[in-house]
Amino acid sequence: MSLGTSKAVFQVLSRAVPQTGYNDSLVNSSDLALHSQFRVKCIKKRSSRHRDLIECSSMLQSRLITQQFQWMGVSFHDYKTYSRPRLQTCKCQQAESASGITTGDENGSRLVNDGETSNSVSNGMSAKHILEFEDVEAQQLKQEKEVLSSNLTNGSITDSFDTIGRNSIEEEAWDLLRESVVYYCGNPIGTIAAKDPTSSNVLNYDQVFIRDFIPSGIAFLLKGEYDIVRNFILYTLQLQSWEKTMDCHSPGQGLMPASFKVRTVPLDGDDSATEEVLDPDFGEAAIGRVAPVDSGLWWIILLRAYGKCSGDLSVQERVDVQTGIKMILKLCLADGFDMFPTLLVTDGSCMIDRRMGIHGHPLEIQALFYSALLCAREMLTPEDGSADLIRALNNRLVALSFHIREYYWIDMKKLNEIYRYKTEEYSYDAVNKFNIYPDQISPWLVEWMPNKGGYLIGNLQPAHMDFRFFSLGNLWSVVNSLATEEQSHAILDLIEAKWSDLVAEMPFKICYPALDGQEWQIITGSDPKNTPWSYHNAGSWPTLLWQLTVACIKMKRTHIAAKAVEIAERRILRDRWPEYYDTKRSRFVGKQSRLYQTWSIAGYLVAKLLLADPSKANTLITEEDSELVNALISANPRGKRGRKNLRQTYIV
Ligand code: GLC
Repeated sequence: MSLGTSKAVFQVLSRAVPQTGYNDSLVNSSDLALHSQFRVKCIKKRSSRHRDLIECSSMLQSRLITQQFQWMGVSFHDYKTYSRPRLQTCKCQQAESASGITTGDENGSRLVNDGETSNSVSNGMSAKHILEFEDVEAQQLKQEKEVLSSNLTNGSITDSFDTIGRNSIEEEAWDLLRESVVYYCGNPIGTIAAKDPTSSNVLNYDQVFIRDFIPSGIAFLLKGEYDIVRNFILYTLQLQSWEKTMDCHSPGQGLMPASFKVRTVPLDGDDSATEEVLDPDFGEAAIGRVAPVDSGLWWIILLRAYGKCSGDLSVQERVDVQTGIKMILKLCLADGFDMFPTLLVTDGSCMIDRRMGIHGHPLEIQALFYSALLCAREMLTPEDGSADLIRALNNRLVALSFHIREYYWIDMKKLNEIYRYKTEEYSYDAVNKFNIYPDQISPWLVEWMPNKGGYLIGNLQPAHMDFRFFSLGNLWSVVNSLATEEQSHAILDLIEAKWSDLVAEMPFKICYPALDGQEWQIITGSDPKNTPWSYHNAGSWPTLLWQLTVACIKMKRTHIAAKAVEIAERRILRDRWPEYYDTKRSRFVGKQSRLYQTWSIAGYLVAKLLLADPSKANTLITEEDSELVNALISANPRGKRGRKNLRQTYIV
C-alpha cells in the first residue's frame, strides 16, 4: 500500500470506525487527534534563566480515568481525593532542594529546560572527561597488567586492583550517572538512556527508558537517594493511563510506555512562557512499533524495591498506585486464546526490542511476569473489589511456576530425554506434550551442554523449543525463585562452565549462541544491526552485571559476580561505558554501540554496591514461597493427567 493510500484509509477509518473497547464512548475525535499531547504540564517563563517555575498543572483526562476506575470498584471520587493533591507535588520546587541529589553544576537543568543546548552540555562534559580518560587509561593499563598476573580461579579472587583504581572507576560512574539525571518541574524524574557526545544521531537515546532506569533507580535507592525513584514511579504512573493509538487502534490501558521525554514547548497564548511536558512513547514511535510488555512489570518490581529500601510504604499504598498495579495485572491476566500460563507476546517486547525470533513465550517476559505477580501480591492492599484479581494472580503463579520449571528446563538428562522423544502423541498423557521433534536439538547444543549445569530455554511453543541461552531470563529466574533451588545452582554452574562464552572479555552475553547464515536472514529479517555476535544477537551487555550479581548473591556464590565485575573493570571506563560489545569473545566495542550508556554505568554501580554489602540484595530478591510450593505439591499437575484435571479457571 502506498503512503498516500494508507493515509487515505487512515482518514476514512478515523471518521468511520468507532474505537473499540471501553475507550469507545470516552474518546472523541479531538481527543484522538491530541493523543500525543500531555497530561502533565509544568509552565515557566521562557525568558527565565533559572527554574523559577510559575505553575504546574495537571490535565487529567477525567472521563477516561472514571471509566478505568469503575471496573475495579474504585470510584473516581476516591481517586481524585487521593491523587489530585499529590499530582500537584510537582509544584516546581528547585531540583537541588527537592531531590537530595546534587548535580554540582547546571547540566541537569539545562538538559531538561533546553533540549537544544543538551549537545553542548554533552560536549562540555566530554571534553572534561577525555582529559580524565587519558589519566585513567594509563592507570587502567597498569591495573590490567596486575590483573593478568593475578590468580582468577573460581572462588579465589585475588585483590589485584588497587583500591584507588577501583574507587576512581566508581567515582567516575557516579559522576556520569548524576549527569544523566533528567528533571521535570525541577524534580529529578529519571535518567537519559545515553549521553554519547560522539554520536550525532541520538535516535531515542535521549529519552528516559523505563527498563533502562531500573538499575539507575536501584543505584540511587542503595545510596539512600529515594526522591528520584519516587518521582519516576509517580510520573510514569500518570503516563500509564494516557490515551495512545496507532492507526486508530489502542492497546490496553495498563500499558506503561517504553520511554518518555521531557520537552520544553511554547505555552499556548503566551509568547513569553514555555512549559515542560512529558511526552511518552508506548511503541507508537518506536522502531518496529513494538509494545513494551516489560515496562509495567519492571515498574512493579521497582515499586517494591522502593518500599523495601526506603521503608516508605505510603507510595505503594496510595489509591492511584494500587490502581496502577491492578491495571497492569489486568492486562497480563486477561483471558485470551492461550493454552499456557505463560504470557503471549510479540517479538521485541522486552530488552531485546527488535525482531530476534523471541515472539511467543520468551523467558525474559515470563521471569519478569512472575516477579511482578509476586511483588504485586505483596503490595496489594486487600479490599472487597480485588478478591477475584488476587485469586487469578495466585492461580497464575502456581501454573506459571510449574510450567517453566517443568517444560523450560534442560540439562544433560533432559536433553537426552528429548533426544529419544516419540512424536505425534495424541493423548492426555503424552510425554512429549509440545510435539518436539528431536532433530531440533542443534549440533551446537550437543557440544555446549556441560555435564554439570543446566538452564531454562528461551522460548517454548508447539513443536518448537528455542534452545538459545537468554541471560536476563535465566538470571532473573534465579533472583525471583521461579527456578528451583537446584535449578538455580545449575544455572550458575553452567555460567561457570561456559565462562569463556558468556563472559569472555566483557560480561555478559545477552544470549548464546548467535543466529547465523540463513537462520539469521529469516529470523531477524537480515537486520544489519543484529549481525552474529553483535547487539541483541549474542552481543555482550555490561548492564547485565547487576542481575548477575543479585543472582549470585542469592545463591551465596558471590565470587562469580565479583570475578565478572573485575573483568569489566579492566576496560569499561577506558572504553567509555559502551552499551554493548561485539564479537564472540566480546573484544570490540559494538559497531553501533552508544558510549556513556547509562544502564551500563548504573549496572556496574549496582553490582559494586551489592558486592560491598550483599545483604542489600534482599530488597530485590524474592525467596521461594512456601504457600506456592504447597499449592504446587497439592495441585501436582504431573500426577494428575486427564481431562477432568485440566479444568482450572482464572477469573478476572
Ligand atoms: C536499545 C535496547 C533497549 C534499550 C534501549 C535504550 O534499543 O535494545 O533494550 O532499552 O536501547 O537504551
